[in-house]
Amino acid sequence: MSKTYGIALLGSGRMGIEHARNLLGLAHARVVAVADPLQTARDAAQALTRAERSYADPEAAIADPNVDAVVIVTPTNTHADLIEAAAHAGKAVFCEKPIALTLERTERCLAAIERAGVPFQIGFQRRHDPAYARAKEKLAAGEVGRIDQFRAVGRDPAPPSLDYLKVSGGQFLDQGVHDFDLARFMVGEVEEVMAWGAVRVDERIGELGDSDTATTMLRFKNGALGVIENSRQSVYGYDIVTEVFGEKGKLLVDETPKTGLRHYTAGAIPGGDGRIEVDHYRFFMDRFRDAYRLELEAFLHSLVAGTAPTPGPREALESLRLALAATLSFREGRPVKLSEVS
Ligand SMILES: NC(=O)c1ccc[n+]([C@@H]2O[C@H](COP(=O)([O-])OP(=O)(O)OC[C@H]3O[C@@H](n4cnc5c(N)ncnc54)[C@H](O)[C@@H]3O)[C@@H](O)[C@H]2O)c1
Repeated sequence: MSKTYGIALLGSGRMGIEHARNLLGLAHARVVAVADPLQTARDAAQALTRAERSYADPEAAIADPNVDAVVIVTPTNTHADLIEAAAHAGKAVFCEKPIALTLERTERCLAAIERAGVPFQIGFQRRHDPAYARAKEKLAAGEVGRIDQFRAVGRDPAPPSLDYLKVSGGQFLDQGVHDFDLARFMVGEVEEVMAWGAVRVDERIGELGDSDTATTMLRFKNGALGVIENSRQSVYGYDIVTEVFGEKGKLLVDETPKTGLRHYTAGAIPGGDGRIEVDHYRFFMDRFRDAYRLELEAFLHSLVAGTAPTPGPREALESLRLALAATLSFREGRPVKLSEVS
């Protein structure tokens, strides 16, 4: 019988609780420890997971001898230190994106993972979403043939708080990175980017030197071209669409309705056309609910099978490099080659 992996859940905020729920359903995982400096947060995670131990200090959870793997869902600025501590302790690591906001810190952290030889997975959950995973299979099987164009839309319902934005690394790193990672996942490595950012939603975001509306053009190494649109505010909810167009057709990961319900009405204008309303996803937590479960399932599966988890260190680093190139392009108002970002 295969082993059950003892998991420490580090961080029990918004995403931590989502991961806690998903860990509960995994055959080869048992949450044995939770850690969060905030008592109410760690109590909630402990009650949910029925973990034996609860720590204020995440390093104590990492050192717990019953812990084989850590799931890091703490604020971004703590990720690199916690990954290194886990690697030194020989524990497998799943970490929410990003590892860090600079290449230098990310590379140092990845070197520690490599030295320790521990399995590592980064939380680019869209790669595990059933539609994106299926699209990838078709692309790998050559069903689209030569890829010519990539198009992605990523819009959030509303901007995060200003306190969050101050330490987020900016719109390209914080929000666009998921679409940049999809571009690499579906099409391949990027040669050059040109990014524009504008402030259309909230002047205070501009005062931070950030944008709330962005368009990035991509030139891929294989010759394909791409465009990514991001907005921090979409009044109708979460808006995620991705298209890969090529020689033999196109793949479209479109918006699907959140539920099967359709509401048929007479419409607003008497005597006019009728209307059909469907339920729309509010945000990432409901749109990618399956993906968050499937990414942890894949992580555990890799541990059991002894294979390298994916997306791994290279994806964490290269998708960050692309987001940094877009940020530089936005700041300097010029095209930026990826080779400039090192
Ligand atoms: N993949 C995705 O789609 C996605 C979505 C949202 C957030 N995230 C990432 O998840 C991470 C957490 O985001 P969130 O929205 O859950 O944040 P959050 O603020 O809701 O939760 C963070 C939790 O970590 C706790 N914490 C702070 N310092 C800690 C430490 N040193 N050790 C242990 N716990 C600590 C806080 O008390 C809080 O409970 C971020 O890095 C974010 O980028 C990823």
